[in-house]
Amino acid sequence: MGKILVTGATGFTGSNLCRRLVESGEQVVAFVRPSPRVDPLRAMGVECRIVDIKDAASVNQHFDEIDRVYHIAAAYRTEHVDTQEFFLVNVEATRNLLEAAKAARVQRFVHSSTVGVQGEINDPPADENYRFEPGDHYQESKKEGELLALRYAAEGLPVSVVRPVGIYGPGDTRFLKLFRPISKKMFVMIGSGESLYHMTYIDDLVDGFILAGTRPEAVGEVFTIGGRRYTTLRELVDTIADVLGKPRPFLRIPYQPVYMASVLCDKLCRPLGIAPPLYPRRVEFFSKSRAFSIEKAGRLLGYAPKVDLHEGLKRTGDWYRQEGLIAP
Ligand SMILES: NC(=O)c1ccc[n+]([C@@H]2O[C@H](COP(=O)([O-])OP(=O)(O)OC[C@H]3O[C@@H](n4cnc5c(N)ncnc54)[C@H](OP(=O)(O)O)[C@@H]3O)[C@@H](O)[C@H]2O)c1
Repeated sequence: MGKILVTGATGFTGSNLCRRLVESGEQVVAFVRPSPRVDPLRAMGVECRIVDIKDAASVNQHFDEIDRVYHIAAAYRTEHVDTQEFFLVNVEATRNLLEAAKAARVQRFVHSSTVGVQGEINDPPADENYRFEPGDHYQESKKEGELLALRYAAEGLPVSVVRPVGIYGPGDTRFLKLFRPISKKMFVMIGSGESLYHMTYIDDLVDGFILAGTRPEAVGEVFTIGGRRYTTLRELVDTIADVLGKPRPFLRIPYQPVYMASVLCDKLCRPLGIAPPLYPRRVEFFSKSRAFSIEKAGRLLGYAPKVDLHEGLKRTGDWYRQEGLIAP
């Protein structure tokens, strides 16, 4: 039995995927950068190889015994890295992995893209064929990475592309930006709250990745993997308030002045090398509708999300409290 390679194994999705694979008896290899986040992976039984995925030679050298790949790593959470880094990691490193996978004749290469490649969804819900319209350099680089993976698929590499929708769950801190102000009763809605938002609970996403990595129907296909339902931002915020046992927030401010301030802040901070506290992508969270159809993954792969939004948010809120990230 060959080994399964996971990139991005120190991240939220990658570490959860590794845990599931190890629990199901697979031999898992991770390409990692040196950091304290590697220790829990080793403790889990993952064979961690220090590999710079931007270095083709290093990638090739460490590809022995690999017969399935989940390429999850991405330059993503850092707003202030330069644009070139997004392309180096999300496109060029992807190319290195695809090339090595081709040479090693792997049985499956699952590439993690994002629904962000489709940008704002004007007539939701969008399916996999909805047009590309990346809204920033991260999304642009993910689009190029996805198209590259599909080019290898067209040439015969058994590639499957997964586009996750807003990932959340215990262990991730991205949604603290909503949970924290709501728990402090200080949340202010920017704009109407009517735009749509769609989330994927981490365990459901891991199911989706595993289906994409094992089902024959997945080869050459792109799948949107999301939760069972999407909501308006207002509903999402109210549900978070409910699971935290806090009052539903009612304060609202108009969108346009905040957006203008974010553009200004971004322009002032970037030349000084400072991470902007407010930047357009953060504010656009409140205005852009993102809602997706998961029908294709259901039909072809049997994907069926199990964790309802209310339950997922409850588990996430409980974890934030346990970790002292929000007050009891
Ligand atoms: N989070 C979301 O809502 C969301 C939505 C749609 C799609 N996605 C996509 O889903 C995937 C997983 O997202 P996530 O939120 O779980 O990611 P994450 O927690 O931010 O983890 C990112 C991973 O990528 C690795 N990485 C970053 N730069 C790297 C580099 N230069 N070389 C090697 N490894 C590098 C990180 O390693 P270090 O620990 O060494 O930094 C980490 O393991 C990504 O492909 C992302 O684009 C995410």
